[in-house]
Formats: sequence, structure tokens, C-alpha cells
Amino acid sequence: MRKHKTLGEFIIENQAAFKYSSGELSKLINAIRLAAKVVNHEVNKAGLVDIIGASGDTNIQGEDQQKLDVMANEKFIQTLTNREIVCGIASEEEDDFIAINSLDKKHQNKYVVLIDPLDGSSNIDVNVSVGTIFSIYRRVTPIGTPVTLEDFLQPGRNQVAAGYVIYGTSTMLVYTTGHGVNGFTLNPAIGTFYLSHPNMRYPDTGKIYSVNEGNYTHFPQGVKDYIKYCQEEEGDRPYTSRYIGSLVSDFHRNMIKGGIYIYPKSNKTENGKLRLLYECNPMAYIAEQANGKASDGFRPILDIQPTELHQRTPFFCGSKKMVEKAEGFMLKSP
Ligand code: AHG
Ligand code: MN
Ligand code: MN
Ligand code: MN
Repeated sequence: MRKHKTLGEFIIENQAAFKYSSGELSKLINAIRLAAKVVNHEVNKAGLVDIIGASGDTNIQGEDQQKLDVMANEKFIQTLTNREIVCGIASEEEDDFIAINSLDKKHQNKYVVLIDPLDGSSNIDVNVSVGTIFSIYRRVTPIGTPVTLEDFLQPGRNQVAAGYVIYGTSTMLVYTTGHGVNGFTLNPAIGTFYLSHPNMRYPDTGKIYSVNEGNYTHFPQGVKDYIKYCQEEEGDRPYTSRYIGSLVSDFHRNMIKGGIYIYPKSNKTENGKLRLLYECNPMAYIAEQANGKASDGFRPILDIQPTELHQRTPFFCGSKKMVEKAEGFMLKSP
């Protein structure tokens, strides 16, 4: 059997290549690796213990929180807080950002983390893959002062790292620090992630389109036209339609096989559904690092200046040529 590098080894070897090589970012990725293992353990026994179903609460997005949303949120926040390696955390499941005031370190930590603790949580009850998405920035306010909203409202272009965990048929951690994208598979017997997918890249084009067509009548004309284009009998078309309803899973498949994911605006939701800071920015950064493309239909996701924590945006993400084609339809009929 081929010897795979472990995630731990990879982090140490690549520390020098990180933009800021103080070791802080390495520690942070290590903490995420640990929290991912804990959440993986919980997700995998979801059917056996009383953690399936709604928690009874609603989050700031107006969504019913699932018990696992709450659990994953707690695990990631606890792990990052206890290790005192970030100065702030923002989460899909929290109304406001959390400032981490470590007394002895006096706000010396450089990084903020933004997180979607459990993505695709409506799929848990039916045993479909769910995920975690994370995004890391260097704070913009001075070190030594408490973190502010400004530190979280940065364009995605400023990310220093981003990644996701997919709790699937096997559990994987996929991330980038701006030097390509690498995927690690968990060996659950020994609790170690191994480098299984080095240098992941979207094919330039593909044959899969992923969109919730149940909302078709409410879509902008450009999206309707693009969907019709995907279905036409011509050249390499019709394409295959695949939609899991877990962004992480849909993204992961499309990156490996080639495809496009679309969550457009509709006449019911002005900015679509997906959250710019917790979902679209990290996925867009990974996509660009993997030879793919991500836009809101008109401009790169990573160039958007966020104005609020829980902001939503339309999202077109995938193989370059497919995203460009969809953008062409949007330009004609926005
Ligand atoms: P979350 O579970 O973190 O709230 O995210 C759900 C998102 C995303 O994972 C998925 O692609 C999308 O919602 C599906 O939405 P629809 O059911 O409207 O298609
Ligand atoms: Mn949610
Ligand atoms: Mn999500
Ligand atoms: Mn979520």
C-alpha cells in the first residue's frame, strides 16, 4: 500500500509556505482538524442517540436549528476558544460575532474564523452527507485591541485559509492556504487524516449542473435560459442534473467530476439563500485555488465587500467554462 502523508505531517512541512509563518495558522488548522474529528464522531452515531431532529430553536437566519447544528457549533467554538488561538469567531448559528478575550495574551491573536458548523443540516435525518465550512482571515484592527465587526467584514479575497469537512461515505477535510487545494481522508480506526487528494483541481468544463429546480418558476430569466441550455440535445449536452442539497457535498462532487452549482436569487429571495461569509466566500476561495470560478452571476464572489455578518448572495460556482457560460446568460437576461 502506498504511504500517505498525514495531515499533521503536511501542516508542519507546509508551514514555511504559509503567508504568515509564525505557526499560529498551523495551530489553528490543527484545532479545526481536532474539532472535525469530534463532530465526525457525533454525526456518525446520529441514528443511535437522541441527536437527530430539531432543537426547537431558530437561528438569526430564521432557520429551525437542528440538534446537530447546535452541537457542531458548540464543538467548534469550544475547541477554538479553549486553545486561545483566534481573537474572534463568527458563526451561522450565532447572532453576533464572539470576541475572545484571553487575559494573558491581551488580544495578541491575529486570526478570526468564520464558520458554518453544519452545512446541509436538513439532510441529517435521512443519512445524507453533511459538512462543515470554515474561513480564516487576518484581523485588520490593531493587535492588542479587542476584535471588531470590521475584522469579519472583509472581502473573500483577503482569506488566508478556507476549507470544508465532508462527513460522507468517508470523512474528508479539504482546505487551502492559497497554495492549491489538498484533500485528506480520515481513517476512523486510528483517527488520523491522510493526504488522499493532493492538488485538487476542477476540470475546465464538466457535464453536471446542480440547482434546486423546484424553484424554477421564481428564477431570473438568465438562470432559466442556462438550465434550458444544459438540457438541450447538442454537442456534449444534455448535462446530468445532480443536487444533494448539501452545498459541501454538491461542491465536492463537482470539483472532482467537473460541474456547476447554482443558488440564484429568485423573486422570493432577493439574494438567494447562501451566506456570503460562512458559505460562499470559503467555497469561492477553494474554487479559485482549484482552477474553478465563483461569482454572483456578474462579479467574482471574492470581490464583494460585505456589509453584514449574515449577508446572503446568489452563488454560481464550478468549472470555469461552465460558470462563464452561465454568466453570459445572466448578462443577457439578469
Ligand atoms: P445550512 O444547512 O448550513 O443552513 O445550509 C443549507 C444550504 C446548503 O447546504 C444547500 O446547498 C442549500 O441550503 C439547499 O437549499 P434548498 O433546500 O433551498 O435547495
Ligand atoms: Mn442553517
Ligand atoms: Mn450551510
Ligand atoms: Mn449550517
